[in-house]
Amino acid sequence: MGLSLILKAAIPVFGMAAAAAALSGDVRPVEGGWRSHFADADDLGLVTRGKQVYAAHCVSCHGRSLQGQPLWRTADEDRPLRAPALNETGPDWMRSDEELLATVTDGHLPSVAPNPRSRMPAFGPVMAQGDILAVVAFIKARWPVSLRVAQSALNPGGAGAPRSVPDDWRFPPICMPGETASKQAGFSPPFADPRR
Ligand code: HEC
Repeated sequence: MGLSLILKAAIPVFGMAAAAAALSGDVRPVEGGWRSHFADADDLGLVTRGKQVYAAHCVSCHGRSLQGQPLWRTADEDRPLRAPALNETGPDWMRSDEELLATVTDGHLPSVAPNPRSRMPAFGPVMAQGDILAVVAFIKARWPVSLRVAQSALNPGGAGAPRSVPDDWRFPPICMPGETASKQAGFSPPFADPRR
């Protein structure tokens, strides 16, 4: 799918971004549940709040530059103890917003059974949904535009496609990777997840 198609598909949902952002000052659950929402990385207010949430609750494990902990890619038995990178070197641009929101809420990817050894906390019981939305928006805002476009294609209707994209935009070097490409890059997308 070309970029213009993705962006066209995404236009109707920008109004929804405003609705989600409006809730971000609130501790109530996000109306309609996660499925009808996405984290708008173009919403500066939401991203700024997400940065604060990240600094308070995530930085100790995932790192100041979202770089993850040393050896996070090593697929040994201690894999669930090491926080993976959340920046462009990690696998999260291959996850939909819904998957990211669910991961922060429940402490594990929806496609992966909870691992009792995992150090990833479930923030759902202790964090406002607006803050979970904000922190995911902050994480996405740190990705290069190519990854943001590619990731938005995983959302319903391409929600969350960046509002402005440079003319020399291109897909990431591994684009919606096949198993081989992702293994070469050291990623663990859902279909080849060593934690399963
Ligand atoms: C105590 C350490 C710790 C804290 C604090 C923490 N994480 Fe994690 N996180 C982890 C670990 C370890 C994993 C990998 C879990 C696994 O493999 O089972 C992980 C996994 C994740 C993933 C899934 C990555 C993937 O595979 O796609 C996301 C997203 C994530 N964390 C976001 C966050 C956010 C956002 C916060 C703050 C609100 C946070 N984490 C706080 C340790 C932590």
